[in-house]
Amino acid sequence: MSTPRVLFVCLGNICRSPLAEAAFRHTAAEAGIEVEVDSAGTADYHVGEQPDPRSIDEALRHGIDIRSYRGRQLRAQDFHEFDYILGMDNSNMANIARVDPGDGKANVAMLLDIVPGQEGREVGDPYYGGADGFSVTWSEVSAGAKALVAIMLDEHS
Ligand code: 4NP
Repeated sequence: MSTPRVLFVCLGNICRSPLAEAAFRHTAAEAGIEVEVDSAGTADYHVGEQPDPRSIDEALRHGIDIRSYRGRQLRAQDFHEFDYILGMDNSNMANIARVDPGDGKANVAMLLDIVPGQEGREVGDPYYGGADGFSVTWSEVSAGAKALVAIMLDEHS
C-alpha cells in the first residue's frame, strides 16, 4: 500500500486546517498508520505565516506543537499529489472547486461529511470569535480525523 496523502483546506490556513492536520497526524500515529499530511488555505492572506496563536495554544493543550507549520495556498498540482483533499465548510468547497483541474486523483470532500451522523455539517470559522471557539474546532476536526483513520483501516483490512 502506498502511503496515503491527505491535505486539509480552509480559508486562511492558520486556524482550522492546521488543527485538522495536527489532529490527523496524531490519530494516524496512534493507529500505527503511515500517512503524509499537509494543510493549505484557498486564500493567500497568510502564506508563510505561523498558525494563529489561539490554534497553537489549542494544539499545545492536546500535547501537539504546531509552531513549525507555515501557511500556504492551495494549488492545482495538489489535486494530482494528494489522495484526499478535505475542506472545512461550504465556502471552502466552492473555492476548492475553482482550483480543481478536473483530472487529478484526489477524493475531495467536506470533512464532517465523512463522519457518520455529521454529514452536511461545517467546521465553523473560529477566527473572529474567542479562544473557546478553538476547542470546538478541535473536537470537530478530531472527529473528522478519527473517521478518516477508520476509513483507511477499513480500506486496507
Ligand atoms: P481559517 O480562519 O480559514 O480557519 O484559517 C481564517 C483565518 C484568517 C482569515 C479568515 C479565516 N482572514 O480573513 O484573514
